[in-house]
Amino acid sequence: MLQDKVAYITGGSKGIGLGVAKGLLKQGMKVAISGRNLNSLTKAAKTLGGNDSVLPLSSDVTHLEEEEQAIKSILNKWGKLDVVIANAGVGRFAPIDEMAVEDWNNMINTNLNGAFHTLKASVEALKASEGYYMTLASLAGTNFFAHGAGYNATKFGVVGFTQAVMLDLRKYGIKVTTIMPGSVSTHFNDNQPSENDAWKIQPEDIGKLVVDLLKMHPRTLPSKIEVRPTRPDLK
Ligand SMILES: NC(=O)c1ccc[n+]([C@@H]2O[C@H](COP(=O)([O-])OP(=O)(O)OC[C@H]3O[C@@H](n4cnc5c(N)ncnc54)[C@H](OP(=O)(O)O)[C@@H]3O)[C@@H](O)[C@H]2O)c1
Repeated sequence: MLQDKVAYITGGSKGIGLGVAKGLLKQGMKVAISGRNLNSLTKAAKTLGGNDSVLPLSSDVTHLEEEEQAIKSILNKWGKLDVVIANAGVGRFAPIDEMAVEDWNNMINTNLNGAFHTLKASVEALKASEGYYMTLASLAGTNFFAHGAGYNATKFGVVGFTQAVMLDLRKYGIKVTTIMPGSVSTHFNDNQPSENDAWKIQPEDIGKLVVDLLKMHPRTLPSKIEVRPTRPDLK
């Protein structure tokens, strides 16, 4: 049922975005992945099979015009857009009195403004396809913690943004969901995935979750999903 549907995943060069891309390609979908570094995207596209079903696109989500260009490239190549996943995100953690202004602004511009830019650039295509828009928020979008003020602010924002967007867009037949993971084994915050991460959610698990959402009956919408490691760090 997902064969030949077209998806766009921001932050698709590694981590969760790459895991979701793998999951969607297995379903026969066509997938565009974006990020700021075309070189790493081209490498990622090779690991995804390097065929015509994958489109690597350089786009920084902090710039609306780059997202608009990315959507144009997808429509030029495949003629439609069914699924948009605003996944690109960064995290910098520090007590608020030590938080660098640059880190604060980068988180807001990437995690929150980026999700808006991606939607703004794609919403007409999603209306045309009666498509699906998802955001990658976080459990940090509902649980606040010390040293997390900037990241918490963006992810609480993403959760509120996505839920309001869901109410705005459902009349067009567009589904909207925010996924709120706990710890996932990725490169987030300079982590190096290793066997020590075995207890964490793996990126392909989020890929399977996204596929399940896309296969959900049209009348039913899980609009906000918390997903966490079954058992926290086993050490
Ligand atoms: N890992 C976790 O435990 C966890 C938990 C909950 C939520 N999340 C969320 O999941 C999302 C994905 O994170 P991840 O864990 O997969 O991290 P990751 O492994 O560091 O991957 C982040 C991706 O985002 C891209 N990116 C960063 N800034 C960007 C920008 N301005 N424009 C376009 N792309 C950009 C990166 O590529 P470039 O750097 O090359 O641009 C990379 O492809 C984030 O929104 C994160 O907040 C992660």
